[in-house]
Amino acid sequence: MRILQQFPIKSVLVTGANRGIGLELVKYFVKQKIKHKKKPVKIISCSRSLNTELEQLLDFVSYVELDVTNRNSVNKAVKDVSEIVGDAGLNLLINNAAVLYRGRGVLGCTDQEMGETFNVNVLGPHTVTNNFYPLLKLAAMNNSHIPISCARAAVINISSELGSIQRTLNSYTTAYRVSKAALNMLTKCQAAEFIQDDVLSLSIHPGWVRTGLGGPQAPLSVQDMKVLQQFLPRSVLITGANRGLGLEFVKYFVRHNQQPGIQPTTIISCSRTMSADLEHLLEDVHHINVDVSNEGQVKDAASKVSKIVGKDGLSLLINNAAIMRHGKGIAGCSVREMKETLDTNLIGVHAMTQNFHPLLKQSAETQAHLPISCSRAAVCNLSAELGSIKGTNRNNLYTAYKISKAGLNMLTKCTAVDLIKDNIICFSVHPGWAQTSLGGPQAPLSAEAAVEDMIKIMEACTKKQNGAFLRKGMNSIMF
Ligand SMILES: NC(=O)c1ccc[n+]([C@@H]2O[C@H](COP(=O)([O-])OP(=O)(O)OC[C@H]3O[C@@H](n4cnc5c(N)ncnc54)[C@H](OP(=O)(O)O)[C@@H]3O)[C@@H](O)[C@H]2O)c1
Repeated sequence: MRILQQFPIKSVLVTGANRGIGLELVKYFVKQKIKHKKKPVKIISCSRSLNTELEQLLDFVSYVELDVTNRNSVNKAVKDVSEIVGDAGLNLLINNAAVLYRGRGVLGCTDQEMGETFNVNVLGPHTVTNNFYPLLKLAAMNNSHIPISCARAAVINISSELGSIQRTLNSYTTAYRVSKAALNMLTKCQAAEFIQDDVLSLSIHPGWVRTGLGGPQAPLSVQDMKVLQQFLPRSVLITGANRGLGLEFVKYFVRHNQQPGIQPTTIISCSRTMSADLEHLLEDVHHINVDVSNEGQVKDAASKVSKIVGKDGLSLLINNAAIMRHGKGIAGCSVREMKETLDTNLIGVHAMTQNFHPLLKQSAETQAHLPISCSRAAVCNLSAELGSIKGTNRNNLYTAYKISKAGLNMLTKCTAVDLIKDNIICFSVHPGWAQTSLGGPQAPLSAEAAVEDMIKIMEACTKKQNGAFLRKGMNSIMF
């Protein structure tokens, strides 16, 4: 579903939207609508009946009654949707509605079951797509400036791995498997034909998800699906959270938790002093007093956090706290300044990572169904471009700070190499030059913008970025 994130889709229709994956897709688009207020997406949720969960979203979503097996209902829905989208057409049609009769092999599968399954899972998407095609074609024409994509015009058929002929080793859920194999062929035929009008068609396997259809034993919850699509660590800890970028990280996660229908992230702020700004957030955020240069306090913090996060462990550790003194050159940088800087910016980060390693490991284990990422288990170290050895040609400022960040980059690499065996990644980020007390008021970036750029990096980080030193846009910085 990552594909959906990259494009500002103007209108989307989801069938079978009152529960399970359909409802979750609708919630995802509601979230996008709230985030991109200036370019709101028109969300059309279709189902045979309206239920309370969908009803709660009606401030953001249009509802159109649709039984995909009933031709009259489809015709009426096309009229209703035409009125909603107008001349702009429909950008994205998601054929999600489906049925599954459980546990029947070939001989146990009645004609009626086979017929009903085909009606909903194959004929349904066929009829719905054909009837909505003029609206999709209109969107493709109207958006000729956009590359062929889900943002221009597309059909997504929610299929299933169970429809893979190659991978089929038993006959369990025969009718469903046969219907999804047929749906995959329908998708292929649609794709071959629709491309001439610049309309895409593709199938997606959503994973095995605990819904009415997926059953209670499925390994993924619908929230886990969101974790796959979006950046949603179960828990996050931020050091130096009372001001500057640390505070802005806390605010980001608080805003994130306020969106409807999401599984909230447990937010743990750590700082050695409290600020009024952080205090305002304490209803939604845990707080632990910790000076990262004090090993005893770091150890204490780890045992307190362990009680907060329980068996889930800690998903993401953001080592943000740092100091920057103004000693100029080697001669102007006192030994005391050097010690203090290394104590916080380098040894502090090491102490935090070492003491929180067991909790990170726990998260990597309990979230084993997730790919290696910041949602599963990760350490993000806030470094600085000033720590690039290759990029240093002058040394008239911040000697200790530069040295501490160069050391931090090596610490990041060593941590990355060691912890990957536990499925934990570690990387350094440069936030850009941001307006904080460290960055100064003349910095070109607001703290909020810098944090948004870093969140995008965290969203995209996988095993491939383990040990990397990154800046905005996932660009690597020279060590
Ligand atoms: N802003 C930029 O342009 C920029 C550029 C490159 C890199 N960075 C990096 O981004 C991170 C955040 O910087 P910022 O701009 O937000 O700086 P900031 O506004 O000066 O905030 C620094 C934070 O670190 C905390 N801190 C310092 N020493 C600590 C210690 N021993 N224990 C616990 N907390 C401690 C401070 O807490 P107190 O209030 O208790 O002092 C404060 O919360 C740093 O790692 C910095 O090197 C910033």
